[in-house]
Amino acid sequence: MVDVILGLQWGDEGKGKIVDYFAPNYDVIARFQGGANAGHTLYVNGQKVVLHQIPSGIFHEDKINLIGNGVVLDAVTLKKECEKVASMGIDYKKNLYISERAHLILPTHRALDKASELAKGNEKIGSTLKGIGPAYMDKTGRNGLRVGDLLDKGFISQYIKIRLKHQRLLDSYNFQEDISTWEDDFFESIELLKDFKIVNGEYFINDKIQQGKKVLAEGAQGSMLDVDFGTFPFVTSSSTISAGVCSGLGIAPQKIKDVFGVSKAYCTRVGSGPFPTELNDETGELIRKIGSEFGATTGRPRRCGWIDLVALNFACMINGVTKIIMTKTDILDTLPELNVCTAYNINGEEKNHVPFQMTQVKLEPVLKSFAGWQTDITAMSEYESLPQNMKNYIDYINKFLKVPVKFISNGPGRDQIILA
Ligand code: GDP
Ligand code: IMO
Ligand code: MG
Repeated sequence: MVDVILGLQWGDEGKGKIVDYFAPNYDVIARFQGGANAGHTLYVNGQKVVLHQIPSGIFHEDKINLIGNGVVLDAVTLKKECEKVASMGIDYKKNLYISERAHLILPTHRALDKASELAKGNEKIGSTLKGIGPAYMDKTGRNGLRVGDLLDKGFISQYIKIRLKHQRLLDSYNFQEDISTWEDDFFESIELLKDFKIVNGEYFINDKIQQGKKVLAEGAQGSMLDVDFGTFPFVTSSSTISAGVCSGLGIAPQKIKDVFGVSKAYCTRVGSGPFPTELNDETGELIRKIGSEFGATTGRPRRCGWIDLVALNFACMINGVTKIIMTKTDILDTLPELNVCTAYNINGEEKNHVPFQMTQVKLEPVLKSFAGWQTDITAMSEYESLPQNMKNYIDYINKFLKVPVKFISNGPGRDQIILA
C-alpha cells in the first residue's frame, strides 16, 4: 500500500514537516521526482534541517528511505546533506537506498541551467539553477547518465562524451565560467555514492509492498509547477503530481491509497510566472515577514498572496486528493481580514477553471472576504478549541473543494498539528 504526500500549490507548502510527522506510520519513505531544487524543512529536537535530496523520513532510524528512479540526483548536494545528518547521529548508510535508474545531475547541467536562464533575460523561469531542466532534458533526450552507470567501467568515457556535447551548447550560449571546481566536487562526491545501497528501485519497492509494508511517497515542488499541468513554461521539469509516483518509483496506480495534498492557508510562489492572488502590497509584505517566506534552497523572497481555490480545485482533480493538510495557519493569526479566491475574472468573464495560459489574458481574482481570527493558535492541539472564525474559513474551503481538510498545521514543530 502506498500513500502520497504532495504539494498543491507552487511548492514550499510544508511537505517536509508533514512527511516527518507521518513517517512513524510507514516503513518506507520515497522521493519520486525532482532533485536538489527541493528544500524541505524539518525541526528535529528543535534543530532546523533543510533536506534537498534525502527523503524526509531519514530522522526516523527504523525507516527505509529511497531515492527513486524519477529523481535527478545531485551527488554533491547529497554528500553535504549526508554529512549534516551524520553529524546529528543518523546512520544514513543503513537506511538510505538509491535507485540505479535515477539520473545524475552533472556539473555541465548546472552550467547549462545558468546559461539558459541568462539567455532568457527578463523571461527567465527563475530556476533554482540546480541543473534540473538540463538533466531532465538529457533523460528524455536519451543522453543522460544514471546512478547505475557509476559502477560501469566505461563511466568516464561516457562522461567525457556528454561533457563535450554540453560544451558545444555552452559555447553557443557564450558561457565563460570556469566549472573545474564543480567537476572536482562532482568526482569526489560520486566516489561516496558508489558506497551507497544502489538498488533496482522498482523491484525493491514492489517487494516491500508485497510484504505488506507501508510506503509514503514524498513529492517535491507543487502541482502548479508540474511540467504538464503547471503554469507552463514557468514550471519545473518533472511530473510533480500523483501520476509521477507511478513512473517515478515503478509502482502501479492501484497500489496508491491516500493522496494527501498539502496547501498553505495562503499561497506563495518563488521564481517567475503567473500568480493570480499575489499581494503586491503591505499585506503581502506582512505575510512574508510573519511567515519567514524566503526560499529554503535559494534564500530568495517568496511572493505571497491569498489562497487560490480555483488552482486548488484543479490540483485536487489532477491528483485525486483524498485529504487536505493545511499548513502555516498560524501565520494568519494577526490578520483582521482574509480573502480566498473563488473564481478568475478573465477578460471580463468569471471562470472557475485554470486557463491554458495566464500571461496573455487580463486575469483578476474574484475574492471572498472572511473576518480573521486574531488569536494565537500556536499552542492549540484540539480542533474544538480553535477560534470560530478559523473554523468558518476552513469549513468554506472544505465545501468549495469537496475534499476534507483533515490536518491543520499551526507551527513548524513536529507536534504542532491538529486533527480536524
Ligand atoms: P516544503 O518545501 O514543502 O517542505 O516547505 P519548505 O520547508 O520550503 O517551507 C515551509 C516552511 O514553513 C518551513 O520553514 C517550515 O519549517 C515552515 N512550516 C511548515 N509548517 C508550518 C506551520 O504550520 N506553521 C509555521 N509557522 N511554519 C511552518
Ligand atoms: P520544494 O520541494 C518552490 C521553482 C523555481 C522556479 C521553477 C523552476 O521545496 O517545494 P527548477 O530549479 O526546478 O528548474 O525551477 O520552479 N521551484 C520551486 N519553488 N519550491 C520548490 O521545491 C521548488 N523547486 C523548484 O523557483 O520558479
Ligand atoms: Mg521548499
